Amino acid sequence: MEKIVILTGAGISAESGLGTFRDEGGLWAQHRIEDVATPEGFARDPQLVHGFYNARRAQAAKAQPNEAHEAIARLQRDWPGEVVIVTQNVDSLHEGGGARDVIHMHGTLAGALCAACNHHWTAPPEMAVGEPCPACAAPTARPDVVWFGEMPYHMDDIYDHLAGARLFAAIGTSGQVYPAAAFVHEAAMAGARTVELNLAPSTGASSFDEVILGPATETVPRWVDRLMGQR
Ligand code: APR
Repeated sequence: MEKIVILTGAGISAESGLGTFRDEGGLWAQHRIEDVATPEGFARDPQLVHGFYNARRAQAAKAQPNEAHEAIARLQRDWPGEVVIVTQNVDSLHEGGGARDVIHMHGTLAGALCAACNHHWTAPPEMAVGEPCPACAAPTARPDVVWFGEMPYHMDDIYDHLAGARLFAAIGTSGQVYPAAAFVHEAAMAGARTVELNLAPSTGASSFDEVILGPATETVPRWVDRLMGQR
């Protein structure tokens, strides 16, 4: 049965109360990307960066998965073929909604990383400057989030999944950040049908076979029901 690959962005978590980046008043209207989401920013002011991620970690811990996260988990459970979920989000709401094996290409708020030895561990609720790495003891702990200028995680696996996709869906992403913004082209070249589910047409909307507009908690459950009805 056909393989479905789903890419999600901040828009799918918006109705769970987590801010998006580029909407009115979004995170990038409140903070400068170069200060809080680049390795240079972290080197310049690690306390500011830890503060930014501590606040997002605290907010994410209070957020609940919404009907869109739950509908995708239901599709992954009930669809007779493979359903692969790739997310740009660093929250754990897909897992909270019941999804499995979620591919976090931009890392996770739940993770910590040693900038010296590359050791990964579960982040405490609050991270502070100079925290020692549990493996090498160097004072170089950072959030395990992929910053601008860094290589996203799991790219080989993601391209393999896209090459085998029969249906590709992008949900809640503005299509402005690469390499995720090009996934629709990879999927289309592999012969997949492509659909975008978004509150407003993304930058890449014209690259999709179908665009379904509306809030994810309305459009995604309806889309999943339609897919399940077509089996
Ligand atoms: N339902 C569906 N879509 C929504 C909703 C909603 N309730 N609210 C907002 N959206 C859509 C917006 O229309 C927008 O297209 O979600 C998208 C959010 O876009 P961005 O804020 O740019 O978030 P995203 O695309 O995930 O950003 C990609 O950029 O800053 C980096 O690493 C960061 O992972 C992030 C990446």
